Amino acid sequence: MLRTQTCGELTAKNEGETTTLIGWVDAVRDHGGVGFVDLRDRYGRTQITLNPEELGGAAPTLRSEQVLRVIGTVELRPEGMRNPKLTTGDIEVRARSVEIIGDCPPLPFDLSEIGGGEITDELRYRYRFLDMRRDSVKNRFLMRSDLLHQMRNFLHAERFVELETPVLTKSTPEGARDFLVPSRLNHGEFYALPQSPQIFKQIFMVAGFDRYMQVVRCFRDEDLRADRQPEFTQLDLELACVEEDDVIDVVERMVAHLIREISGVTVTTPFPRLSYEEAVSVYGTDAPDLRSPLRLETLDDLVDRIPFNIFTGAVEAGGQVKALRVPGGGAWSRKVITELEALAKTYGAGGLAWVKTNADGWVGPLSRFLEGEALELVAERTSAEDGDLLLFVADGSRGVVNNALNALRKEIARREGHADPAKLAPCWVTEFPLFESDDEGNPTPCHHPFTSPHPEDADRLESEPLAVRARAYDLVLNGFEIGGGSIRIHQRELQERVFRRIGLSSEEAKEKFSFLLEALKYGAPPHGGIALGIDRLAMILAGDTSIREVIAFPKTQRGGCPLTGAPGEVASAQLEEIGLSISPRATAQPEPGAD
Ligand code: AMO
Ligand code: AMP
Repeated sequence: MLRTQTCGELTAKNEGETTTLIGWVDAVRDHGGVGFVDLRDRYGRTQITLNPEELGGAAPTLRSEQVLRVIGTVELRPEGMRNPKLTTGDIEVRARSVEIIGDCPPLPFDLSEIGGGEITDELRYRYRFLDMRRDSVKNRFLMRSDLLHQMRNFLHAERFVELETPVLTKSTPEGARDFLVPSRLNHGEFYALPQSPQIFKQIFMVAGFDRYMQVVRCFRDEDLRADRQPEFTQLDLELACVEEDDVIDVVERMVAHLIREISGVTVTTPFPRLSYEEAVSVYGTDAPDLRSPLRLETLDDLVDRIPFNIFTGAVEAGGQVKALRVPGGGAWSRKVITELEALAKTYGAGGLAWVKTNADGWVGPLSRFLEGEALELVAERTSAEDGDLLLFVADGSRGVVNNALNALRKEIARREGHADPAKLAPCWVTEFPLFESDDEGNPTPCHHPFTSPHPEDADRLESEPLAVRARAYDLVLNGFEIGGGSIRIHQRELQERVFRRIGLSSEEAKEKFSFLLEALKYGAPPHGGIALGIDRLAMILAGDTSIREVIAFPKTQRGGCPLTGAPGEVASAQLEEIGLSISPRATAQPEPGAD
């Protein structure tokens, strides 16, 4: 055995024993000729004392982050030197032999928790093996491991079967671009990496597995954000013979269990449910953060009583006017309001109108339009009280109004301390539309094309596709979409109608999805499921705001891996083997029309 104990387990009970430890040098101190080293591993830290005489005269030169093998005797620390915060705080190991088994050059950055904040993420990820030696980083990955373990245990007890699906496959559309892999054996042909295992899990239901789960990597070539990586991990579930409530029930029991086990927080079930329409109307988004009590109110029906041309103009143009009431915001300075206005403008709003609702009259740019009946109507609609601030955004585009007010609501939650990361506020958003309109005005699936239309709306698929509701639901936690799913189409004819509605000819549908259509022919039970974004859930449970903090080797904004340098060029022989040649970059080509 290379070691007899870890650095986290020796206590007073081991006094007098000989121990062999291996660990990293966390800190070295020198007190009047006697050296002290904190030796660290995953399990903890143990203090080593080094007396040059006892080490044969010459103690090796020790530096932070070297790996040492120490043989010595466990001794009680002198009274007054004990550290009750550490498991090993009552003892120290008096070294008889110290061997540097892994040397370490000067570090590219300071690993101490305090110094660490100032380095760039790129440097941290390039040296992730050092970054992960820090307790705060390490603990995120131990938590993530625990999360996965708890998920599997819970689902196993609920009789889910863990099944795997291919990574080299055909396109499985979830609304992003595919990553393609060229085939060496079939020149000119490509595999697509799965955007999700959607079709495979439906096929498992046709096969009769009844309850499927998988912790699975998904790949989507889309623009990155703090909560989006090109590869990410889903907890993917599918159940046969179910309706919406069955899926929702098992998932919310699991999520409440995970939150209790991992964060020690009790969230009540059932989680609140909002329809898509209600979520967008009241919070300006389909992923509302329910930790904040602030709500939006629509004033469209009141604008003919408020003689402010920006409001009337917005409604006439098919847009909206909405208000956000900030209780107590009457005390906010003009500087704060100007900052909020600047934020609203970054979302396309033309400005931010406001009033402060003081007892002796309302003040602010909008107050001259809010008098008499208009004031009363707005006060009633917004439930304004003395000392509040009312913020208003009007625009010809509903999207602009909602996006700007959603951003303001989040910013105010941050300023007011409503966004406490220790608070967890899940909710379901249901009754999404089945389609949205793409850039050319054609219906395109909001979720994916396998989602079942609401039975009451199915006869409007052809005539009024944008009015058809989907049997889809999203799970939202603290303002992040952490899961999305639906009841699926299990009848081949209905699936073909939806394909036609999104503009796939029957040849195209066959070419792309013949295996699904074929499977649906052979006795498909009703089924539905969901996928949770494990990275996002882990991020929230860790109190972070970027999923990169809980992904071991994350990609940068440009999709690069700082550790390995991927993506990289390949040798021409390798390209030849797969029958590919690289054309010059589009940007290096002459401008159209230029000679
Ligand atoms: P959806 O596309 O909603 O559904 O994905 C499910 C969940 O995966 C997470 N997620 C991501 N996380 C990090 N980076 C990304 N780029 C990313 N994209 C998605 C989100 C999201 O809620 N097949 C369906 C599920 C189903 O219908 O059962 C699907 O993939 O948390
Ligand atoms: P103005 O009449 O341009 O001086 O604007 C009066 C107030 O309306 C100012 O506080 C502006 O910020 C605000 N405002 C301008 N455009 C909008 C808009 N689209 N929505 C809400 N308020 C606006």
